[in-house]
Amino acid sequence: MLEKVDEIRKAALQACSQASSVKDLEQARVRFLGKKGELTLLLRSTGQLPPEERPGFGRLVNELRDELEAVWAEREEQLFQEEEERRLMAETLDITLPGRAVARGGVHPITRIIEDTKAIFMQLGYEVVEGPEVELDYYNFEALNIPPDHPARDMQDTFFINERLLLRSQTSPVQIRVMENRKPPIRILAPGKVYRADSDITHSPMFHQIEGLVVDRGITFADLKGTLELFAQRMFGSHTKIRLRPSYFPFTEPSAEVDVSCIMCGGTGCRVCKDSGWLEILGSGMVDPRVLAGVGYNPQEVSGFAFGMGVERIAMLKYGISDIRLFFENDVRFLKQLGSEGGHLC
Ligand code: DAH
Repeated sequence: MLEKVDEIRKAALQACSQASSVKDLEQARVRFLGKKGELTLLLRSTGQLPPEERPGFGRLVNELRDELEAVWAEREEQLFQEEEERRLMAETLDITLPGRAVARGGVHPITRIIEDTKAIFMQLGYEVVEGPEVELDYYNFEALNIPPDHPARDMQDTFFINERLLLRSQTSPVQIRVMENRKPPIRILAPGKVYRADSDITHSPMFHQIEGLVVDRGITFADLKGTLELFAQRMFGSHTKIRLRPSYFPFTEPSAEVDVSCIMCGGTGCRVCKDSGWLEILGSGMVDPRVLAGVGYNPQEVSGFAFGMGVERIAMLKYGISDIRLFFENDVRFLKQLGSEGGHLC
């Protein structure tokens, strides 16, 4: 039996030193030290010995196991290092090659105008709110003083979903939703997408508007004018002038169209302003008393002003773009050109 121990020891040490890879070494380990390995079998045969020899023999086998395990661990480490070295030598990685550049994104010009406008009005204490794009006829038209069959409905080529439901054609319905749920004072700005069945170089079936509404005691037309003048100067530059022209919107009375002095020529007349010196940028007016009464306010106690602007139109004027479709084609060259333009407020 003792010879057998010695035999296994020799064979195991030889197999260990001859193993030329980690894999080889593992196979040899299973053969000698595994659950069904030679050493385990040897230990099981202890029973065949006379009882007095059994403890000594068991100790011997266990000592051999300890020895072999240590030798194996050392050899494994050695083989692992060798393999790693060979792998690194064989690898041809040129770390001097330039990396692949990651394309940098930018803020879309429409988003930028919206963010700049929000910043201007938030500084004046306005709260930014949103409303649904799929809207009830009631909010988009009726509550804004545009009953069924009213000719003013023709001003907006609306996408109807059914008799009562439509894609909002303006952001003005947000005014009603806010007033229905709150008491004055109200000072809100509502940017968002709107939809109209209209498509050419200055009209897109989906575009963006920003709505503003202020309601409180004693709000006057002067507040409207002062606010919009400040907005125009922050948006287009401090030399910008505004002018108000009488107009008509069903939900405001009186109503005014607001022009800014041409941002291209400063007002002397050019191709962009068609030699008039002025550019129309938004619609506005004093909230019609019927609209106030409709949401349960007392028009004798409170008054308000509202305004609504087309974001694409402002972006086209500000960046000198003549085709609205460029905003939605996502041509990276176009977006990059505008992305490099600095000076926005946020
Ligand atoms: N909603 C109007 C439009 O789409 C724009 C507008 C005009 C909004 C006057 C207003 C306003 O709030 O007072 O043409």
